[in-house]
Amino acid sequence: MQVADSDTPTTPADRTQRLYNFSAGPAVLPEQVLLEARDELPVYDHVGASIMEISHRSAAYDEVEESARRLIKKLLGLGDDWHVLFLQGGASMQFHQVPLNFLPEDGTADYVVTGRWGSKAIKEAKLIGSARVAASSEADHFAHIPPEHTWDLDPDAAYVHVTTNETVNGNQFSWDPSLDVPVVTDASSEFLSRPMDVEGYGLIYAGAQKNLGPAGVTVVLVRESFLEARKQPLPTMLDYGTHAERRFNTPPVFPIYMVEKVCRWLDELGGVEAIHTINQRKAKKVYNAIDGTDFYRGTVDPKDRSTMNVTFRLPSEELETKFIKEAEHRGLLSLKGHRSVGGIRASLYNALPEAAVDALVDFMDAFERQYG
Ligand SMILES: Cc1ncc(COP(=O)(O)O)c(C=O)c1O
Repeated sequence: MQVADSDTPTTPADRTQRLYNFSAGPAVLPEQVLLEARDELPVYDHVGASIMEISHRSAAYDEVEESARRLIKKLLGLGDDWHVLFLQGGASMQFHQVPLNFLPEDGTADYVVTGRWGSKAIKEAKLIGSARVAASSEADHFAHIPPEHTWDLDPDAAYVHVTTNETVNGNQFSWDPSLDVPVVTDASSEFLSRPMDVEGYGLIYAGAQKNLGPAGVTVVLVRESFLEARKQPLPTMLDYGTHAERRFNTPPVFPIYMVEKVCRWLDELGGVEAIHTINQRKAKKVYNAIDGTDFYRGTVDPKDRSTMNVTFRLPSEELETKFIKEAEHRGLLSLKGHRSVGGIRASLYNALPEAAVDALVDFMDAFERQYG
């Protein structure tokens, strides 16, 4: 598989080839993983059938799921006090499941709202109980993360919910909060992109379809002591305890199988420290291209910029439309900003090759020379 040449082409990029994919999710997966899955698709490891066609109680599947769990724990340095769950319903289900389990009827939870996904999370929590905005950057269109010392925290809150990377708005926490109450984070769009200091967290959740695998599975890391604080009784499938205890029902076998492969790829590459160095370098290249000119304008305060989702504007919406179209022509896919905010968004997830970033930066330069 080859990526189309990024020099100015006279013909549109050949879409029968793998192109550079800047999609925010579902997103690019490591090519090595796709090829391995392709080779194993009809027959998985001497079981006479594909992984999708065998029992989720079989020894072969058991090993896949356990390996995925082991690798996630290894990559993040999680101790035995952490459960790794593979759930369904997307990160959106977690917006509901977290308060359902942890927000008591007579209690409150604090939410730090730094973008579209955090806004959705608190909306769901309010359906369950009393959820307060402890801090928000909505008034400045989520262009920054309110510093921790400004948060209006309730010392009796059941938890504090944050979104450590806001996929739509392009901001990212530069620290892992550690507070007097457990922190819950939606880490969907930054999971395994950097080392995490998990000390302050009670629960971390991430939809797989950005850094981890295909859509269809959501990874939930929950600390035993936090889990013990959950309400009872709960609907069986929505009780984290059910899944921490045993494999209750049929899991999303194929997405978990892919997550295992992606984690193995990452581990072989040197783990989260190694990918973090690469991710920082990739993001810096694009931010330098933005900052080096008045033609491009970043949408987020430089100290809170995301390494995963780089958001920026051009001088007009007409130029943005042209930029996206010409980029596609060159084989640079999915650079359109989220429909709620417009502009340009380049998602630079773990599996996006650095050469894709170089091609984007070259294109930005050429585009500005032509239209700037
Ligand atoms: C940070 C974040 N949270 C939640 C979601 C929603 O995920 P899902 O579509 O898996 O429910 C997304 C999706 O893009 C996201 O980026």
